[in-house]
Amino acid sequence: MALLEAHDLTKTFRRPEKDPGLRGSVKHLFQRRYSTKTAVGGVNLSIEAGEAVAYVGPNGAGKSTTIKLLTGIVEPTTGEVRIGGLVPHRNRVANSRQIGVLFGQRTQLWWDLPVRESLALLRDMYDMKPDRFRAQLKRFDEVLGLDELLPVVARKLSLGQRMRADLACALLHSPRIVFLDEPTIGLDISVKDRVREFLRQLKADGTTIMLTTHDLGDIEDTCERIVIIDDGRIIYDGSLAEVKDQYARERRVHLQLGSELTVADLADRFPQATVTAGAEGRREFTVAFDKAELTAGAVLAGVAQIAEVLEVKIDEPAIEDVVRKVYAGELLLADRSTP
Ligand SMILES: Nc1ncnc2c1ncn2[C@@H]1O[C@H](COP(=O)(O)OP(=O)(O)O)[C@@H](O)[C@H]1O
Ligand SMILES: [Mg+2]
Repeated sequence: MALLEAHDLTKTFRRPEKDPGLRGSVKHLFQRRYSTKTAVGGVNLSIEAGEAVAYVGPNGAGKSTTIKLLTGIVEPTTGEVRIGGLVPHRNRVANSRQIGVLFGQRTQLWWDLPVRESLALLRDMYDMKPDRFRAQLKRFDEVLGLDELLPVVARKLSLGQRMRADLACALLHSPRIVFLDEPTIGLDISVKDRVREFLRQLKADGTTIMLTTHDLGDIEDTCERIVIIDDGRIIYDGSLAEVKDQYARERRVHLQLGSELTVADLADRFPQATVTAGAEGRREFTVAFDKAELTAGAVLAGVAQIAEVLEVKIDEPAIEDVVRKVYAGELLLADRSTP
């Protein structure tokens, strides 16, 4: 059996429907009307131990709600979750020992305590031996630079420092599976890189990871599987490499030339490609093509025959572009969410 199994997971919220303004509020007091919102509708998910899964989708798609359902913070309206055989919202204590959770928008740290004290409280909650606790802190210091944060009161931490400390809290007890909801949100690039390095190490250590993020750069090195959710439903579940291979076929070669050419010279040479001139007019061009029809090597070799090539840059589409197309409904991906 997989480490995590979710069947037909659904969460609906009841929202008060009220006319605007004070009149609306008063009216609502006497004559309550509600509408229901399905945040997550019929999600099936199975995660094997050691997998790293990227869980992506537009704002409001239901990512955070799914994480809350999977971790037992929220009870499902219908459906069931099991992690290592336990039902998270029913076996809270036992479950908390096998999972780690981080919500990028919220902290686990005790606001008025130094980071060290928050970690010590967690150590006691998880009954950790002093040796193991120290070893973990050392490990977190190496990648997250934890030591300098230990004496600082949580409310004085910057966002990046707070996230580093929160990652340590989520992973302190070496959980089998960790749920990271937007662990890089709002971070500047240097902290982001640290967090990404931490994710790579977690993955290498065999920790099972479920990661939601707005920055798909976070997932490229860590996750081999991508699950895309839209409007509460899973619209794609499969390999990240496959999505890229199938749907990110466009390549762009940017050329800086030492001699002059025209768009027509290049267009004649590469009829399969779209050629545009850059800012430098006749010395700068972009050749865009489908990688199934042409290669960057062939473009270079061809151009070198008719002009002097000074500089080359090759762009591959970012996974962002692919996912954006999926959101926009431009790509119809195979639905493998139903078992
Ligand atoms: N506690 C709640 N009460 C009412 N609606 C909620 C609640 N939590 C989430 N929602 C709604 O459920 C939908 C999914 O939210 P969420 O899971 O936070 O999306 P995401 O994390 O993908 O941005 C949104 O429309 C959101 O407004
Ligand atoms: Mg969210």
